[in-house]
Amino acid sequence: MENATLLDFLLKRKETVHEWTKIPWDEPEFSRRMLREHLSQDHDAASRRSNIIDQHVHWIHGKVLKGQPATILDLGCGPGFYTDRLTKLGHTCTGYDFGPASIEYAKANHEGTFHLGDLRTIDFRNGYDLVMLIFGELNAFSPDEAQAIIDKAYAALKAGGKLLLEVSRFAALAKPDVEPPTWFTSKGGLFSPNPHICLIENSLDLGCLTTHHYVAEVGSDTIHTYSSMHQAYTDDEYRHLLRQFDHCLIYPSLTGSSQPDENFLAIVAEK
Ligand SMILES: C[S@@+](CC[C@H](N)C(=O)[O-])C[C@H]1O[C@@H](n2cnc3c(N)ncnc32)[C@H](O)[C@@H]1O
Repeated sequence: MENATLLDFLLKRKETVHEWTKIPWDEPEFSRRMLREHLSQDHDAASRRSNIIDQHVHWIHGKVLKGQPATILDLGCGPGFYTDRLTKLGHTCTGYDFGPASIEYAKANHEGTFHLGDLRTIDFRNGYDLVMLIFGELNAFSPDEAQAIIDKAYAALKAGGKLLLEVSRFAALAKPDVEPPTWFTSKGGLFSPNPHICLIENSLDLGCLTTHHYVAEVGSDTIHTYSSMHQAYTDDEYRHLLRQFDHCLIYPSLTGSSQPDENFLAIVAEK
């Protein structure tokens, strides 16, 4: 019965999404399940594992901030792993995220000031030495939203302040061949608390990678679709998004040059 439903759904589905879409980080139940992924030390899917975050924070503190105490705005801070470490190093940090479980966890467990808010609509305020948005999240906004967030970050920085972006490499998203469809089964996880099968399908259009997760729970004939989009940019396109800034430097990873990251680049743009 479920197989017939799933097959019927897959044969009738429309693969093209016309509106920009991302996974529902801000939905309370999804956010609660996502928090487990953030905290997991078995993978680097939602946040990196602790030892990698330590290396990133070491580079941000030593190289980007030259060890000087700074006022920092962490956009899309998640459960606050970076905010916490940077606060303990003497910086004054504010984190924003629209995942309710992440912000609740950050407030209860981490140092720094945390607010629930959507980066597309909140006022960032101003007076920061550093604004950061990492782990490729800029690519998960539509190009217009990404430009608007960069422009708000520029306005929020002091003269001489820096915007730190960790963005997806062009080749990591706009691969010549998109990953073929695949699937997995789960007894309960991010996409459903119940036993389910999840089918994953990717498509690439004008540098925008769309990933659909089709989730069918055992015993239910409803198929849930979770879609997310990621826009690929070349290095020149990143420079264009940051054209208001005085200059920008591109690094092979969030640890500087020592260990290039296969999927991400770090950009430091100075106002
Ligand atoms: C990949 S996670 C990274 C979290 C954190 N920066 C880290 O590296 O541990 C992306 C974060 O961006 C947040 N996010 C995505 N879109 C957002 C939006 N429109 N407003 C606020 N936060 C957003 C998500 O809730 C999630 O916590």
